Parts: sequence; C-alpha cells; structure tokens
Amino acid sequence: MHLSREEERAYQGDLGETLRRAMEILVALGDIYGADRLIPVKSVQVAGVSFKTIGEAGLEWISDLRGKAVVPSVLNPAGMDLRRWQDMGIEEKFAKKQIQIVEAYSRLGISPDCTCTPYQIRPDSARKGDHLAWSESSAVSFANSVIGAKTNREGGPSALAAALVGKTPRYGYHLEENRVPTFKIAVDADLDSSDFGILGYTVGREVGEGVPRFSFRRRPKVDELKALGAAMAASGSVALYYFEEDAPSAPKGAEEISVTLKDLQQVREENAPDNDVDIVAVGCPHCSPKELEDLARLLEGKKVERELWICTARGIAERCPKLVEKIERSGAKVFCDTCMVVSPASDRYKKMMVNSGKALAYVPGLCKIRAAYGSSEECVKAATRRN
Ligand code: F3S
Repeated sequence: MHLSREEERAYQGDLGETLRRAMEILVALGDIYGADRLIPVKSVQVAGVSFKTIGEAGLEWISDLRGKAVVPSVLNPAGMDLRRWQDMGIEEKFAKKQIQIVEAYSRLGISPDCTCTPYQIRPDSARKGDHLAWSESSAVSFANSVIGAKTNREGGPSALAAALVGKTPRYGYHLEENRVPTFKIAVDADLDSSDFGILGYTVGREVGEGVPRFSFRRRPKVDELKALGAAMAASGSVALYYFEEDAPSAPKGAEEISVTLKDLQQVREENAPDNDVDIVAVGCPHCSPKELEDLARLLEGKKVERELWICTARGIAERCPKLVEKIERSGAKVFCDTCMVVSPASDRYKKMMVNSGKALAYVPGLCKIRAAYGSSEECVKAATRRN
C-alpha cells in the first residue's frame, strides 16, 4: 500500500507510539485486503465499548493509548446506562470497569454518545458520498444503504486507529465495484412497519454477505429501513442494500428471491412469544424520536407488569424529555448508552421478547437466553396491563 511521506513517518513511529500502533493496524488491514492507499474519513464510530465484550484485556489496550481523534468520532453502546446502571441491576464491579472504558475512550477524543444510531443525533457526521469508518453493523448498513455514504464494517481497533489517523484503507465498500447488487429481492406484500425486522431477519439468512436490491410496493420509512438493515446485518452480514427504484441494477444472472407475507408469517410463528417471556426490550437499533412517540402512545393509561426496557441514545432522550416521562409513567424504563444485547443485565432473564430482527438473531448467542419476536404493539401488550 502506498503511504504519503507523513503517513510513512507516522508508521515508523516518528510521530509517537500511539500513531505508530494505529498506522500498523491500518497498514496491516490495507495489505490484507489489497488497498492501494489510505483515504480520509469524515467520521468514525467505535465499537468494542461494553466491558462484557472487550473485558480486562480490551480496557488495558485502550488505557495504554495516548493521542486524540482527528475527526468526529463517537462510541457504540456500552454495557450499561452510564447514569442509571443500578436500575438495570448492574453490579458495581462491572460498572467501575465500564466507566473506566468510557473514560479511556473519552481521553482519546472519542465522544461518549454510546449509540448505534449516530446518524440520528449527528446527521452531519455522514452525508451521501462521504467515506467513513464505522463499526456497528446496523450503523454501517444504514450509512451505506440509506445515507449513501461508504464504510466497511470496522472492528473496534481499526475504527479507533482510523479516528486517531483520520484515514482508512481504500478497499471493500469504499470502492464502487464492490457496491453492485448481487441479489434481487422481490417483496410481494403490503408490509406494515413491524414486518421490516422480520423481513431483514429472513433475507439476511438467505443472502449472507451479499448486496440485496429490494423492490417494494411502497417506499419504506426511515425507521423501517433502520430495522431492515440491522436485521440483515445480524442474521447474515449484509453491509449494503438498495431499496430505491433508481438504484443500480443487479447484473444478469443475479439470484432472485421472492418474499411473501406468508413467508414472513411463518418466521413470526416460529418466534412467537409464550408464557416464558420475562422481559420485553425494544430499541434495537436505538429508538428514534418517532419510535419513542409511538411507544408513549401505546403505553398511555397502562402499567407494566413485566420488565419493559426501551433503549435509545442519550442525545435522543434528552431531546424528548416529555416522551420519556410519559413512557416511564407506565413503569417502563428508558435506558440510554446501552442496549439489551451488549449489557450483561439481560443475562439474568429466561426469555426476551423484542420487536427487532437484529435482537432476535443476537440475544440467544450473546445473552444466552431465548428470544421471541412481536410488533411494538405486541411487545407493549405482553409487558402491560390496563391501569
Ligand atoms: Fe444497537 Fe445494540 Fe441493537 S448496539 S443495533 S441496540 S444490538
């Protein structure tokens, strides 16, 4: 990979040990994937924040680094609400470690937004055509597919390296030739919002790391696309999909898949809730203001009788205090900075009901508990009774 004179100096360690380590990661990645050079990125999103996933070794690695992010950079969700961790049932020992991780990242200039939906709180961080280095799979999918920006799915260390250097190797989804649709998905159904998570869960399993090009009967809404992409990134590893009529065509011979309401209904039935559900959690990816508004409406006049968590970014919760208050009047808990998948607080339950195809795919493996799926309405119904 070609390096500029300045990049070469950083790589040799002339600009300090942290930059040397960051360049070492970027150059190794670039060499593996055949990148010709580094390109500047507009923003970075760093995953690998929860102490549950990175542990003591990760904390030590981050704490050892010195330096500052040179482009706007934010953190993915942590393992707990950084202020209300006791309400989640998090142990003090875990909380201390988690706070140390977030502080270590903050010292490096990574903003502790702790969200998988940075585009909801910082729309300027990614615009059409921008090159990015984002990590969390649903955010990557949204950036590539809905915003029209370009990012690979970075690992925690490579995203952090990109934040410190301001660059990423040019390969993968940064190149137009890798952004061509490889599957045609005909959705022969009138979908409602709750179908998009289950559609993504279904299609992701079929297409793996392919690039699906959907044709829908109507243009999906932004939150529906967020749910669709998140689920495909989890049940498969889709980082880019197309949904607009003027999207690039799939080449001749690309596999065609047709999805009907009956197919989706079957997957719903396989994942229907039962009496074992002891927690309901929504907000994967983190809720938008519109989703909080819908939940506040659904919860009006009701009281929760099962644990109900609603996950969102702190920046969104602070923008909508009245909605949060309305939701919490029911006994539901709005948690920020974290989610039901990356927090160890989920692990003590038996079965979690979710309205997210991504959470449905990840909860069993990462929380070691069973998962069930329902719409937001069904989730609220399962968690509440009339007042
Ligand atoms: Fe976000 Fe956690 Fe889901 S990081 S996409 S809420 S698994």
